[in-house]
Formats: sequence, C-alpha cells, structure tokens
Amino acid sequence: MTQLRIGVIAGDGVGPEVIKHARMALDRALEVADSETRAVYTEYDLGADRWKRDGQTLPESDLDSMARLDAILLGAVGRPDVPPGVLERGLLLKLRFAFRQCVNLRPIKLEPGVACPLAGVGPERVDLVVVRENNEDLYVGTGGFTHKDTDDEVAIQTSVNTRRGVDRVLRYAFETARKRATVRVFAGLDAAARQAGKRGRLTLVAKTNVLTYAHDLYMRAFEAMAPAYPEIQTSYQHVDACAMRMIQTPESFDVIVTTNMFGDILTDLGAVLQGGLGMAASGNLNPDRAFPSMFEPVHGSAPDLAGQGKANPIAAILSAAMLLEHLGQEVAAGSIRRAVTQVLQQPEAPRTPDLGGTATTDQVGAAILAAIG
Ligand code: NAD
Ligand code: IPM
Ligand code: MN
Repeated sequence: MTQLRIGVIAGDGVGPEVIKHARMALDRALEVADSETRAVYTEYDLGADRWKRDGQTLPESDLDSMARLDAILLGAVGRPDVPPGVLERGLLLKLRFAFRQCVNLRPIKLEPGVACPLAGVGPERVDLVVVRENNEDLYVGTGGFTHKDTDDEVAIQTSVNTRRGVDRVLRYAFETARKRATVRVFAGLDAAARQAGKRGRLTLVAKTNVLTYAHDLYMRAFEAMAPAYPEIQTSYQHVDACAMRMIQTPESFDVIVTTNMFGDILTDLGAVLQGGLGMAASGNLNPDRAFPSMFEPVHGSAPDLAGQGKANPIAAILSAAMLLEHLGQEVAAGSIRRAVTQVLQQPEAPRTPDLGGTATTDQVGAAILAAIG
C-alpha cells in the first residue's frame, strides 16, 4: 500500500465543517479508484482556539513535521475575535511562504446546473483559470509606520517583486495554458472549448500604466518568455479592464496570470461567476515539489455561517480533487469531479442556501460521497 501523508488544518469557522467532507470524498475516491493508495492524515490543532489558548499560530515543530508531508488540506483561518492578520499572516501566509508555494492556482469553472449571477451566462462561457503569484508583492509584509497615531502618521507597505519570482509564476502559467490546449481533461465541454480555439490563451493582468517599476518587470519577463511558447496566444490587460471583462465576456479568458494582490481580488470575483465562494477551489503549489503544496477553498471562515450547517462543502471537496491531481491520483480526482458535476445536475439533489437550496452541509457532502461510489 502506498500512503499519501496529508496534513489537515481544519481551522476556524466553517473550516472544520467543510474539511470533514473533503476528507471523506478523498478517502472514498481513493477506494473506488481501486489503487493501492490510501491517505494517512495528521491533524494540526491550529487556528483561533489554539492562539487564544497559548498564543501560538504556527510552532516550529509543526512546520518541521509538515515539511515531511505530501500535501496539506486547509479549511480556513481567521475569526472576528482575533485581531486581523494574526492568523492570516501568522499561519496561512507563513505556510505559503515557508513552503515556497509560489503559485496559487484558482480554476473558475461554472458547472452545469449552477446559476451564474450574470443574465444568460452558462457553463460554456465560464471556464478559465487564474494563476496567482503567491509569494511576493504586497504580501511579503515589508513596511512600517512612522509617527504612529499622530496627524503626521505615515504607513508604508512595500510591493516586492523579483525577476526569479516573476519568471517562475509566468513559467507555470505558460505551461498551464499549454496543458489546457493539448491535454485531454475531464468533461465534454473541454473538448468543445479546445475545438473552438478557446484554449491555449494566456493573459497577463497587471497595471503597467501606474506600477511602472513592478509591472514593467512583469511585462518584460512575459514578453521574453512568450517566444518559447509559440502556440500560446498571449495578451495583456490592465486589472481594472480585466475586472470589467470578467463580467462582460468571461469567455474571452482561458488562463490569467497576475500578481498576488490582484489575484486575490479577481478570484473572489471569479468565485461569484462560478456560483459563489462555496464553489471555488484552490491550490497553493510548490512546483518544484521541494515542500508540500497546500489545498484550500478560496473562501474564508464565513463567521456569518459558522456552526449552522449552511456552508457549501463543494469548494473544499474540489480542493481535495486538486490535491489528488497534484499527487498523481488523476483517477481518484476525476471521480470526485464527476460526482460533483453529477450531483449539481440533478434538480432534486440537495443544495446549500448559497446555491438556492435548503440542504445542510452534511446532506450535500453525503450526496457527493454517494455519487463517488
Ligand atoms: P469569507 O470567504 O469567509 O465569507 C465571504 C462571504 O462568502 C460570506 O457571506 C460567507 O457566508 C460566504 N461564504 C464563504 N464560504 C462559504 C461557503 N462554503 N458556503 C457558502 N457561503 C460561503 O470572507 P470574509 O468574511 O471576508 O472573511 C472571514 C474570515 O476569514 C476573515 O478572518 C478572513 O481573514 C478569513 N479568510 C481566510 C481565508 C483562508 O483561510 N484561506 C480566506 C479568506 C478569508
Ligand atoms: C485568500 C485569502 C487570503 C489572501 C487571506 C486570508 C490572507 O483572502 O486565500 O484569498 O489574501 O490570500
Ligand atoms: Mn482572498
């Protein structure tokens, strides 16, 4: 038997409620894939409760033990009774940086049977992926105050962008565009999209007209890399126009590559295009596999829903599918994706309130589990 060593940080709010179902789906998918592979979980007691108890956000010993894992599954961190940033920086971003998860891969795919808030927009028009830089930009945490709490106060937060960091996220994005153009991926719509020439396009999204240093670097690196991918159709868009076009013509995008901060904002917008934050999965990837990658729903701890059994578990379940794919378990990943698609297509299947239903997290999780096999 081969073991997948998976660390679990269920975290705060709805995190534990949805991660429970991600784990069950993952286990069931490995079973039905009929491989000799099974997941072995290590649970980490991290998040708001832990911090309140002993002031720890991420002890070194946990970081050391996590470094030996194959992957990490994370629910969400952050709670209204903990100051902003304590857990977001001290746990989530610390892991993304420590394990050099330099790519945040965020697919935006509207499933058949899920309503898009845009009038008349269906699945054939929403199928893109955002490759978000994940280790640089405003997120590095460089900055400070002078004259704090006076009228002369100055607050500085620096965007740090390195040629190496820019090149590695661009490289990943070009490779993603190439893969989407050539590889046979699950679901019939994909074949149609390839045929219509929608696949194999890469858009750099930045703000070169204002951020004339940082994004000039992005543009130069992008133009320097493009000739190595002659089959990829490249384009550039300013982030403000991109936000508009994601609403107006979402079908005009295949792969978007963008900075950490812009990617954060655009992927909440993208989540809504695919039915809401309850549907949006993501992977924080370490492409060279020197450290574990980490998979999590795009959403946060949803304090407004926590403890009510109303959270949609699909974003977390699809994150587990991304985890399996990353670890080479394509068959198991495919069975989760198919099960999600199947359940969403049945009008009578349970749905959580964000998708217009009245079902609980557990009912939706159980329906997907049954559909896996
Ligand atoms: P949020 O994503 O938690 O919630 C935004 C909205 O989406 C809320 O209305 C919520 O009810 C809804 N929503 C979220 N997940 C849902 C689900 N599974 N099903 C149905 N609806 C869902 O964002 P927020 O309210 O801005 O942040 C809450 C806390 O989470 C903050 O502390 C924030 O820092 C943190 N956060 C953590 C992560 C993470 O751990 N990866 C991501 C984003 C926000
Ligand atoms: C996300 C979240 C995080 C981010 C926060 C919680 C640090 O919003 O994963 O999108 O900004 O990256
Ligand atoms: Mn975000």
